Amino acid sequence: MNNDSASLPSSRRGSAIFIFLALSGLIPWLVRYGVISQWILLLHIIVGLAAIIPLTVIFTKHGREADRDSPTRWWSTGLWSGIGWAALSLSGLWLVGKGIWGVFVPYRMHSVHLVAGLAFGAVGLFHVVYGVAQSKFPQGRYAQLARPLALCILILAVGAVVIGITRRQETLAIANFIPSNARTDTGRVIPAKLLLSSESCGASGCHSTIYEEWVPSAHHFSGADPFYAVIKANYVKAQGAGAGKYCAGCHEPISLMSGENIPAHTSPTSQAGSSCVFCHALRNPDVKGNANYVATAPNPYLFEFSSSPVLRKVSQALIRLHPEQHKLDYDAQHSQSIEFCGTCHKQYLDKRVNGWRRDHDRTEQTAPARC
Ligand code: HEC
Ligand code: HEC
Ligand code: HEC
Repeated sequence: MNNDSASLPSSRRGSAIFIFLALSGLIPWLVRYGVISQWILLLHIIVGLAAIIPLTVIFTKHGREADRDSPTRWWSTGLWSGIGWAALSLSGLWLVGKGIWGVFVPYRMHSVHLVAGLAFGAVGLFHVVYGVAQSKFPQGRYAQLARPLALCILILAVGAVVIGITRRQETLAIANFIPSNARTDTGRVIPAKLLLSSESCGASGCHSTIYEEWVPSAHHFSGADPFYAVIKANYVKAQGAGAGKYCAGCHEPISLMSGENIPAHTSPTSQAGSSCVFCHALRNPDVKGNANYVATAPNPYLFEFSSSPVLRKVSQALIRLHPEQHKLDYDAQHSQSIEFCGTCHKQYLDKRVNGWRRDHDRTEQTAPARC
């Protein structure tokens, strides 16, 4: 650098932001994609968007000044870092744009951003660390670098703690679905909100066709069906309140999974029928007995159930950018077997249901009988 060191303090502060972006970009790639990882990615995006223009100006100015000066040993690493900054800014903007306004984000651009980040990020880190250590203008060099970095890390930590507190779940009630054979993987009920909101699958623009097909389908109305409501009411009157759980395993599974006692009339959760999420969160379907399956609770993304439309948009962008958890939770592979449909689409009436057949034993192979 020449004697005019005016741009150095801002370059060092800018470098701190560069280091934060490099590190926060690595974490969602290295760590399993949980909510804290999502928060780190979100902060990476916010800081990145806010930094593009000021950092580009600072780095250009710094590069020009260095160019006027006689070349030092670390000059070329500076040039490569600058090129890297441009590549990362452009690919980052493209990714965020696709995440917000697109439907699917191709993995190819992820790879471009990641490889550019790894290669140029490493060169940039070397340039910054070496440059700061060797600087002929040492006043405040470490403080100028450390302060913005510490601020970003503080915001990250506070956000992570807040998310940790708000995500803590109260202890859920033990699941008791008898006489239905339905179960949950944890043995506890699943909060209804985790299984509802089929609209969001359509509204996000990702699954609009499937959603439009589901809206008028029998699966949507399996709980609200007026014939069902009448027959269930008679059945509950004859057998007692708890008996309705038997019907609910197939007709209003969300009411059952959330621990409702299945009243004779229909409730808001039964209006949702077999939702997208419920069907896709169903595991281990078995044709023995009735509704013999295991329901699982999906892991919602950050802000997935927020009441604010803006935050829901953020959540959808996070899903598009890193759909790993989403795909794992709603994996259609578990729904491909014949048993999947058969777990509801056949009847077996045991003694618990109509009081006169022999007791159903889950381990016993039983011949399906018609309703
Ligand atoms: C009755 C249960 C059921 C319901 C309700 C349901 N699905 Fe599916 N879904 C399936 C099955 C079964 C498959 C196909 C599995 C296969 O053959 O690949 C599937 C496949 C899919 C696929 C394709 C997955 C892939 O890997 O190709 C998507 C996306 C999907 N469903 C979304 C939805 C959405 C959105 C809704 C709600 C509007 C919904 N599903 C409602 C059972 C269901
Ligand atoms: C094992 C799953 C299962 C259970 C348990 C079950 N049903 Fe069903 N029910 C179905 C399926 C699947 C259909 C659709 C059959 C078809 O049309 O092929 C159906 C159809 C119906 C229909 C006809 C709906 C129409 O509009 O045509 C009524 C009514 C009904 N069920 C009432 C009940 C009642 C009341 C109970 C509890 C006493 C009950 N079901 C228990 C799976 C079940
Ligand atoms: C969670 C239980 C459940 C699962 C799993 C399930 N269904 Fe259903 N399905 C029902 C119920 C209940 C009804 C009847 C709704 C009503 O009419 O009230 C129904 C209705 C239907 C109907 C309409 C039948 C008619 O007579 O109108 C079709 C078609 C159907 N299901 C196909 C499938 C297929 C194919 C699969 C597997 C991919 C499947 N279902 C999985 C519970 C289920």
